[in-house]
Amino acid sequence: MTDVASQGTAPSQAGKPVLTNRQGHPVYDNQNQRTVGARGPATLENYQFLEKISHFDRERIPERVVHARGVTAYGYFEADGTVGDEPISTYTRAALFQEKGKRTDIALRFSTVAGGRDSSEVARDPRGFAVKFYTEEGNWDLVGNNLGVFFIRDAIKFPDFIHSQKPDPVTFEANVAERAFDFFSQSPEALHMVSLVFSPRGLPASYRHMQGFGVNTYKWVSAQGETVLVKYHWLPKQGVKSYTAADGAAVQAQSTGSHTKDLYDSIAAGDFPSWELHVQLMSDDEHPELDFDPLDDTKVWPEEVFPLRKVGTMTLNRMPDDFFAENEQIAFGTGVLVDGLDFSDDKMLVGRTFSYSDTQRYRVGPNYLQLPVNRPKVDVRTNQQGGPMSYGRDNVGENPHVNYEPSITGGLREATYPTHDEQGPVVTGRLTRKRIPRTNDYQQAGERYLLSEQWEKDDLVANLVGALQQCRREIQERMVWHFFMCEDELGQRVGEGVGITADDVRGLPPLQSQTLSEEEVQRAANLG
Ligand code: HEM
Repeated sequence: MTDVASQGTAPSQAGKPVLTNRQGHPVYDNQNQRTVGARGPATLENYQFLEKISHFDRERIPERVVHARGVTAYGYFEADGTVGDEPISTYTRAALFQEKGKRTDIALRFSTVAGGRDSSEVARDPRGFAVKFYTEEGNWDLVGNNLGVFFIRDAIKFPDFIHSQKPDPVTFEANVAERAFDFFSQSPEALHMVSLVFSPRGLPASYRHMQGFGVNTYKWVSAQGETVLVKYHWLPKQGVKSYTAADGAAVQAQSTGSHTKDLYDSIAAGDFPSWELHVQLMSDDEHPELDFDPLDDTKVWPEEVFPLRKVGTMTLNRMPDDFFAENEQIAFGTGVLVDGLDFSDDKMLVGRTFSYSDTQRYRVGPNYLQLPVNRPKVDVRTNQQGGPMSYGRDNVGENPHVNYEPSITGGLREATYPTHDEQGPVVTGRLTRKRIPRTNDYQQAGERYLLSEQWEKDDLVANLVGALQQCRREIQERMVWHFFMCEDELGQRVGEGVGITADDVRGLPPLQSQTLSEEEVQRAANLG
């Protein structure tokens, strides 16, 4: 609000600013309400007191339904102008990437997922990694996580999945192991993500020491309208550091806010964290040669086939001045793309794209995009108006009376359509509700287990056993079955921890919610 304050002289005494109310009136007594006599009663025209207390009554907005605990930091992204050793313009026309050394301001919000606004930052949970680029062509949000994959592949399952991660709706008991594993045991696509969250990667040592990923598959569009599929990776120059469960418990015993404090402290000390942005590219088609679907967010793309190619570096160098205005009110969404970037048909991505701005209109208010932290750093000119807490119409055209389009009397006009046509392949098909054909729910989880170091394997097994011990027998059996389907050694070790052998689970039929490949049918018949 500095622009308003600068229009007048703020009340001051002896050169020092004094307290005022929101109307700019000096406050002479902030300790005592106005009363009839020293002992009361209070009066209703007590404007100063009523304004103060009624504003306080409204200090909170609803917390985010997920990712409520988080912290925002600011910095910049510096482009390489290339993708690996090729000019980036071959693949995308997005302006922010084109020139070597070009800087774009960014805001980044790190978060945990399941807990409330004051919950522990050392909880076993994925971490959110949401970057807002204030580009010269308007905002771009890349809303990702630190693990590279997700639990489900269809957005219609998201509310159920999140309920399974949250406390009991009757007792609010926060011991969610049985609820979470009940859901996982019936959702085999979650196995890859479960194998990551229960490994040390599910407990990053700090926000500075974790990777970030866009997770969903997006598209890049060139000046010629050619498209490629793209996945984004943020690699921390500080390196990756994770906690074992024991390390995490020791930190949590001292503080539940260690990640936020670490970020404030390191930036205050001038130790600015930075991440390289790399991408993987794939031609824009179904890739029948792969054993997974490139639009399936439960899968990673093998780096030996689709190598990482660097496109720039992001540095964080400033923390917010006001935690509420800049961390609680910042709003990211997967629909926020600039020219040269596009959606794919990833069934999570489309669902997310509706969900973010929908929740933000409810959580922050319909004018959330007028708030300084969300507002693009380019002119915004729309015919939208009104709604609670409007700052007024955005930048009206040469005739401010014309708040509609089209008009011949000087209102805002559409931009001339670029020379290129709408991009992307032609899609035909019957309306249906079907799983994607190449589900392959176990292979990457098994491979990840085998590639882990011994301490990571041990920590993963101990964490899974610890959680499954809190679950009923049917859930334990089904989870052990799934772990055998991923990798015999994993099934064996988790099974041992909960007293279940391959013989106990070999006869279990596949779930109704899965279609096993021939290879998986063989595996199920020979578990262990
Ligand atoms: C936050 C929905 C999947 C990353 C949120 C919020 C909603 C939501 C409603 C709260 C936003 C707000 O109040 O401002 C969904 C839905 C999903 C989904 C419907 C699936 C269909 C994912 C996935 C990722 C992700 C796969 C990671 C790749 C995030 C992050 C935030 C967030 C980082 C926090 C943004 C912030 O810091 O403000 N999501 N989400 N979400 N989601 Fe998702």
